[in-house]
Amino acid sequence: MKMNRRDWFRWSGLAGLAVAANPLVRGLAGNQDAAGAAGQQPRRQRFNMSGFAAPPLEKVRVGIVGLGNRGPSHLDTLRHIEGVEFRALCDIEPDRAAAAKKLLEGTRHNPRLYSGSPDAWMKLCEQDDLDLVIVTTPYPLHATIAVYAMEQGKHVASEVPAAATLEECWKLVDTAERTRRHCMMLENYAFGPFQVLTLNMARQGVFGDIVCGECAYNTSKMSNNFSKTMYWNMWWLKLYGSKKGNIYPTHGLGGVSQIMNINRGDRFDYLVTMDSDDFMMGPTARELAAKDSFFAPFAGKSYRGNMSTTIIRTVKGRTITVQHDGTSPRGPHTIIHAITGTKALAQEFPLPGRISTSLDGWLPQDKYDALVKEFTPAITTRMGGLSQQVGTGHGGVDLLECWRLVDCLRHGLPLEQDVYDAAAWSSIVPLSEMSVMNRSNSIDVPDFTAGSWKKNGPNMDINLTRGGDTRILLG
Ligand SMILES: NC(=O)c1ccc[n+]([C@@H]2O[C@H](COP(=O)([O-])OP(=O)(O)OC[C@H]3O[C@@H](n4cnc5c(N)ncnc54)[C@H](O)[C@@H]3O)[C@@H](O)[C@H]2O)c1
Repeated sequence: MKMNRRDWFRWSGLAGLAVAANPLVRGLAGNQDAAGAAGQQPRRQRFNMSGFAAPPLEKVRVGIVGLGNRGPSHLDTLRHIEGVEFRALCDIEPDRAAAAKKLLEGTRHNPRLYSGSPDAWMKLCEQDDLDLVIVTTPYPLHATIAVYAMEQGKHVASEVPAAATLEECWKLVDTAERTRRHCMMLENYAFGPFQVLTLNMARQGVFGDIVCGECAYNTSKMSNNFSKTMYWNMWWLKLYGSKKGNIYPTHGLGGVSQIMNINRGDRFDYLVTMDSDDFMMGPTARELAAKDSFFAPFAGKSYRGNMSTTIIRTVKGRTITVQHDGTSPRGPHTIIHAITGTKALAQEFPLPGRISTSLDGWLPQDKYDALVKEFTPAITTRMGGLSQQVGTGHGGVDLLECWRLVDCLRHGLPLEQDVYDAAAWSSIVPLSEMSVMNRSNSIDVPDFTAGSWKKNGPNMDINLTRGGDTRILLG
């Protein structure tokens, strides 16, 4: 089904109504008015943020909003990076803000705390001596906070996904272009060793023409989602109970999109999404509600199905399959990253990573190791053992992404992912829902670059041709 921008907003508005039943995200529905009005106009790019570099920063003065699981994890990573100064911390829950500040006791950092009301983050964004706002709240709030932070002159690094609706994706793009502030989504898996290895191989022509990519974030979050304490206000369970489609698409999609030069040589054209039924969340909610009235509001909801599968077609005729299953009892955590080209195939998950360059099957270990040695880029080797020593999350990729973010800001370099990446990768959340609600018919993906994808140059300076000298502080 072909849709114009007005239709997108109409659809998104309908999707928004379902979401609006969730008290957590009710406030966001109001954002649709302004963006909806903008949606009537053909889009013109104000300023091309691809390749944008802001003036270098001697220090990177950081504020973090959202101090549940992810916020303190970023705090612990960033405190090991030269030039970072924590100046502000915010959480709606005062004890969480105080606990995060306690983690910095005895260090050079003395951040101001903001807390106690749902909009305390606005005051943080208004604080003068801040350069970068890191957004780690439940994701339906990410874009609202990011837009306000940019309006206040701050760069933004948002956790994934950066936006929950199409209007928010556009608002991120419009605001970044107008304010000329960075808006990077912290898609950490795109910095994974196998992802950047295959990116380097793709750039050197090892795969020939890239034909398709497959990716997934398939890992059971059932016990987390039904835990009373894991996530603030049961926000993930509320999302599963009010949304359809891929509600967490960016982890696999980031790495594949970099390899396919999405937004810089190619772009997403249209997609279809099909969800399986929910076989587990509804029955679990009913069982729990029978024993514990806390779960009564969660019984009888129409949960997102166990498995959501999206296929995106690009303008250059390639396909990307994106899966998300956060429900089925998968022992092995599965983050598929598979690239098929006319000359070679690479696939990670199930582990270990494998590469094939002929019909003879996967390369034997010695040949695989030789390719890894030849094509592992500097961005991986520079961090090497340091990430093990510092011991930060996701096998060291969190340190790598935060280090490179700070390094680029200190040197006044373009960031490795830009606002068009944030918008395009996040847009799969609302667009996949639109497809599911329309019997999996195809939905066009907007061109957030307004045509500049045809001439934008590559990002991900994986060989660290510039910068790269920011130190890691051990201890
Ligand atoms: N990239 C990754 O690998 C990764 C891993 C985990 C989580 N995430 C993302 O990080 C984000 C946070 O996830 P989490 O697991 O930390 O969730 P969480 O529920 O543990 O933490 C969210 C925090 O936000 C706070 N909060 C809620 N409303 C607020 C408001 N109005 N103002 C200020 N604070 C508010 C809550 O009190 C809570 O402390 C999510 O968007 C998630 O998708 C990414």
